[in-house]
This record gives sequence, C-alpha cells and structure tokens, in this order.
Amino acid sequence: MTYECILTSVHGDGPRKTGLITLNRPKALNALSDPLMDELGEALLAFDADDGIGCIVLTGSERAFAAGADIPTMLPHTFVSAFTSGLLSKNWETILQVRKPVIAAVAGYALGGGCELAMMCDFIIAADTAKFGQPEVKLGVVPGAGGSQRLPRAVGKSKAMDMMLTSRMMDAAEAERAGLVSRIVPADKLLEEALGAAETINGFSAPSVALIKELVNLAYQTPLRDGVAVERRYFHALFGSHDQREGMEAFLAKRAPKFEHR
Ligand code: HXC
Repeated sequence: MTYECILTSVHGDGPRKTGLITLNRPKALNALSDPLMDELGEALLAFDADDGIGCIVLTGSERAFAAGADIPTMLPHTFVSAFTSGLLSKNWETILQVRKPVIAAVAGYALGGGCELAMMCDFIIAADTAKFGQPEVKLGVVPGAGGSQRLPRAVGKSKAMDMMLTSRMMDAAEAERAGLVSRIVPADKLLEEALGAAETINGFSAPSVALIKELVNLAYQTPLRDGVAVERRYFHALFGSHDQREGMEAFLAKRAPKFEHR
C-alpha cells in the first residue's frame, strides 16, 4: 500500500512481526492533517487485521513526532463549520479501536495533537530529544483530542495545568519522572528500542497480550472494584487457553514456551 503522508513497513524475525508506521510530512513537522489522519487510521486498522502482526510502532522523524493538528487548515473554520463537520474527530480515535499494542516512539516535538496522539498509544518510549506540550492556549483554543483529560491522568493535575496554561514544554527527563513516558533512550537508538520492545511482546501469547491491553485501559474507565472483578474473570478465562498450559509447563520444565496464540 502506498501512502502520501505516512510510511509503513514490517519488522522482526519471529512468526509474529511488528508493523511500523512513520509519520512523514517532514516540511510541516508531521502536522496531523486530515489526509494524514485518514491514512494513519487505514494503516492502523490494516495492521490490526493482519494475523502476522503482533504489535504496532508509531513514530515520526528525528525533529518531530508531530507538531500538532494542521494549523492552516484549521484557521478558516467557524464554530458552526467546526461543529457540523466534526472538525478533527474523524480518525483521531481510530487508534483506540486497535486491539494490538501500539507503542509510540517519540523524538523531537510531540505538541498539541502530537502529544495527544502519543498519549492514545499504549506506552511511549522517548528519545532524549523528545519534547511534549499542549500549547493550544497560544492559538486561542483548547486541546481537542483528549489532552486535557489524558495529560492530568498521566502526570497529575499540577503539571498538566502548568503545561496547558503556560504552554511550556516538558523535556524527556521530566516526562519520564512524571510518568508520561516509560523509558528514555539516546535518539539514535529510539527505533531499535521500540522495535525491540515490540519483538518481546510478539513472543508472548496474543490472547494474554490483548487482554492486558484491555484491562489497563479499563483502569482509566471504571472504579477499582469493577476493574479488579473484570481482571479476575479474564484471569480465569485464560485457563481455557492452550497457551496458559504451555506457559506454565514450560516454566516448570525450565524451557522456553512455544505459544500458539490460542
Ligand atoms: C502546520 C506546522 C505546524 C502545525 C509547525 N509547522 N507546526 N504546520 N501545523 N501544527 C510548520 C511551520 O509552519 C513551518 O513551515 C515548519 O513546520 C517548521 O516549523 P518552524 O516553526 O519554522 O520550526 P521551529 O522554529 O523549529 O519551531 C518548531 C515548533 C513550532 C516549536 C514545533 O513549529 C510550533 O510551535 N508549532 C506549532 C505547535 C502547536 O501549536 N501545536 C498545536 C496545534 S493545535 P514553513 O512552511 O514556515 O517552513 C492542535 C489541536 C489538536 O494540535 C486538536 C486535535 C483534535
């Protein structure tokens, strides 16, 4: 499949591989235009539907993961045109429909919609050059793809308010301290690290991977008691899988498990 605004490729040596999506509008610092978001949605769903793919990595360029939604195309909108056209709702949440893990590999700027897109991924690996921010206040608007809701959950109210009200950016070290990113690596190792993490995940049983993703996301939507009850059911349910028996037998036999993803 050929795209205009993104690149896709497949990586890995094992039976389940990693789908890599690279945002590719370098002149606009990967600004998230409608065509780009359409292509991103299409590529995400295609990898999700492909049984040979276990994990997806989403990345940008050295200079920018994405500097936000595309400002020139937003500029002429009125309230009515934004509201009736559902401005920037199309495909912005496709990533949340993906059942396989999606890892954001972020170097350079992840601002506005770029930061929101990274936060919609399952976890973020950052290059030491990464900078995160929700600077919409400078444009006279507010975050529009979940930033005002996800950032406080990730870094707490005080830092989220500080970033959104003053428009200051957070560097990679601060983002890691605050819990926004899971690890920081030198910029030239970013892709290797993200693809390595994906390869590790690809080696595990697909049903347990998919259910872990679902459960962790559930933690943001349900009271603790309900989330724990669902977790217990999923835990019990996996005793109906081949891979539970294989994983436990392999541990006791001190050998590597041969998961069959069933
Ligand atoms: C379109 C953008 C862009 C954007 C940068 N560019 N950000 N184009 N939309 N969001 C373009 C610039 O116009 C410029 O094009 C080129 O990329 C390089 O950018 P410069 O500003 O020259 O680079 P630099 O001085 O290094 O500054 C980098 C930057 C700055 C700090 C990232 O570009 C910046 O502040 N960008 C805007 C960030 C922002 O406000 N994001 C939030 C958008 S609102 P030319 O043609 O001049 O070379 C949003 C709402 C989300 O995201 C809602 C989701 C539903």
